[in-house]
Amino acid sequence: MKEKGLEIKNQLLEDIKSVNTLQDIVELKSKYIGKTGVVTGLMKNMKDYAPEERKEIGQIVNVIKTEVNDIISTKEKEINEAILNEKLNKEKIDITLPSKKIKRGSLHPMTRITEEFEDLFVSMGYTVFEGPELESDENCFQKLNLPKGHPARDAQDTFYLKDEVENFLLRSQTSTAQVRAMEANVDKGPIRIVCPGKVYRRDEDATHSHQFMQIEGLVIDKNISMADLKGTLEVMMKKVLGEKTQVRFRPSYFPFTEPSVEVDVTCFKCGGKGCALCKQTGWIEVLGAGMVHPDVLTMSGYDPKVYQGFAFGTGLDRMAMFKYNIPDIRTIYGNDIRFIEQFDRKDED
Ligand code: DAH
Repeated sequence: MKEKGLEIKNQLLEDIKSVNTLQDIVELKSKYIGKTGVVTGLMKNMKDYAPEERKEIGQIVNVIKTEVNDIISTKEKEINEAILNEKLNKEKIDITLPSKKIKRGSLHPMTRITEEFEDLFVSMGYTVFEGPELESDENCFQKLNLPKGHPARDAQDTFYLKDEVENFLLRSQTSTAQVRAMEANVDKGPIRIVCPGKVYRRDEDATHSHQFMQIEGLVIDKNISMADLKGTLEVMMKKVLGEKTQVRFRPSYFPFTEPSVEVDVTCFKCGGKGCALCKQTGWIEVLGAGMVHPDVLTMSGYDPKVYQGFAFGTGLDRMAMFKYNIPDIRTIYGNDIRFIEQFDRKDED
């Protein structure tokens, strides 16, 4: 009987190799432990044995039955597990949602152009000097050679504050920083500053806003000449508008400089050939400049026999409009995000 049992077990281990599905298990069960199965057959044959043998044979048959059952149910478990795993894998749900796109901010074109000027001048040894937007009449005009009643004040019709601060106004030009820088410099030594900032005038159309930005430059030292001014402005305009840009001086008048010049650059649109933008002249006026007037130096404590200086001032909005091709200054101050987004890293591409 033991041999018979071993035989059955070996056959089962052989059969089980090709068992892959639950259906195979059903067939296997019926072959071994079903009603007509081989193990069940062994039980049925018990009657053929003598009564005294039956006990021992019965025990052996039981062991065979348990072993066969174990082998089959282990295999059944394996198959069930495999089926479950496959199901779990197939039915995996992706519970993650695509994240919301993070909106990256972009610098306002005025911030970019201001920083570009600042970086350039800082690289040439200048300091960025900032003055207040609410300024005294004295600093904004009188100490720049524009006493009360001076006709050149008309060009800068601005916002005065009344009552207790009668002599104060929203500065109409960053040139006021010249006065502040000279007065702040108590040892009256050399100065090299740029002052970017907001200025205010009673203006309003496509190219003029009541609030706009300027950048002022002031250099004071011994032996400063127009050549220094021209060289500096050439470097500046090439940096901002491109290497091919040329600069020309035309005589002009500003109360705080002598001599004074109006500075033109070759038209960056047509390269100087003549187009609608430059009104066929090939040149575009971009800034005012000159040698600091001796009276301006004197009024702020400098001896014009020892020190000379040059100064310049330009509209940063105008520069941004040229550089970024902005047709209407009002969009610069309109606070529309769609406008600002257009300049996102444009000149870094
Ligand atoms: N402040 C002048 C303006 O707003 C521009 C200017 C002209 C500034 C000549 C200067 C200068 O420093 O020397 O129109």
